[in-house]
Amino acid sequence: MTKDINKDKFDESTKCKLNIFRNCFKEWFPVFLHSEWAKEVYIFDFFAGSGTDIEGKFGSSLILLEVAKGENRKYCSKVSKPIKFTFCESQKKKCQELNDNVAEYIKTCEVDNKCSTCVYKLDIINSDFKSIFNDKQIQSIFQNKHYAKFVLLDQYGFRQIDDNIFKQLIKYPKTDFIFFISSSFIKRFKEHPNTTMYIDTQKIDFENSTPKECHKIITDYFKELIPEDIEYYLHNFTIKKGSNYYGLILGTNHTLGMEKFLKVCWQEDENSGESNFNINNDIEEGDLFYDPSNSAKKVEVRKIVEKEILSRRITDNIEGFKFVLEKGCKPELFTNVAKKLEKEQKIIRIGKLSYKSTEIHKAEKYKIELKNNENQ
Ligand SMILES: C[S@@+](CC[C@H](N)C(=O)[O-])C[C@H]1O[C@@H](n2cnc3c(N)ncnc32)[C@H](O)[C@@H]1O
Repeated sequence: MTKDINKDKFDESTKCKLNIFRNCFKEWFPVFLHSEWAKEVYIFDFFAGSGTDIEGKFGSSLILLEVAKGENRKYCSKVSKPIKFTFCESQKKKCQELNDNVAEYIKTCEVDNKCSTCVYKLDIINSDFKSIFNDKQIQSIFQNKHYAKFVLLDQYGFRQIDDNIFKQLIKYPKTDFIFFISSSFIKRFKEHPNTTMYIDTQKIDFENSTPKECHKIITDYFKELIPEDIEYYLHNFTIKKGSNYYGLILGTNHTLGMEKFLKVCWQEDENSGESNFNINNDIEEGDLFYDPSNSAKKVEVRKIVEKEILSRRITDNIEGFKFVLEKGCKPELFTNVAKKLEKEQKIIRIGKLSYKSTEIHKAEKYKIELKNNENQ
């Protein structure tokens, strides 16, 4: 039986996961709170747990509420549209504890801030994930393009977010999600019917990789499920616990969503933006030659981008930005490569020039041409 995560102290790997949930939501929430097109905002925590660990440290649901309040009520004091949190937990007892913990949190918050009622709507549901996820009302929220949705799926194991759920998630408009998955277990039990009925492991080649790469490979499996004609971004963050590898998969159909996810992951891991350990054997902090600006991942992606530009497969900044996002790097990496090639007189940029590398959906397009000698 799976150990109950809320009946113990959160360990370091759980803290890392919760930190990523917190920081991603911190990036996401103000965008939709202030956005004009988002008529309503929905936040789902489908595997909510009981709210805290044994020491009272906040779990995902209370973290979401805390972030949505903001320091000195900087967010909740500005709410001018319906914002609803839905927390789902299948175990009756845990759901009751969650109810109590959330009620206590809200009451304390109202007293501390002298508010009569919380501005946020809250729904705590004792239900199995799949039945609530497929509920008509919830589906109509997911399908509404005027509603912004943030979805946490902190499952145990890997069986809840199967191919079908994933395919549903990626087609909903304005829906960003993060799900947890026990990647090592898929690798270890890849032939077991209890695995193959959820994940088609025949399509995953674990043989030519090391154990630490298994989460990346599983993310690639999900990437393959994305239809070619849709623009979609997935990022993987591997979490090592003992000898096992777990991980988060972060999904969004907007470059801004991906920029935000990557910002948080690179804050967590300045060498590769993709793990809570030294996944690429980089020189570590404290060592003489420690230099995160030239980590293995950055050097590799810079090399690829340079090749793509010089072989004319990337011909403008927008293509370049999206290419590096797909590789799990922040858009500024593309800009740095373009600057270098320009300095080396290998390319020229044509159009409205700017080196701004954030909010790339607003960036003006410039073309990249090779200097004459590079064309030969
Ligand atoms: C990893 S824990 C979530 C921990 C929580 N996010 C936190 O931060 O404390 C997974 C939770 O999902 C619940 N759960 C398991 N299967 C479920 C299902 N099918 N539907 C909804 N909840 C489920 C478990 O009881 C457990 O509390």
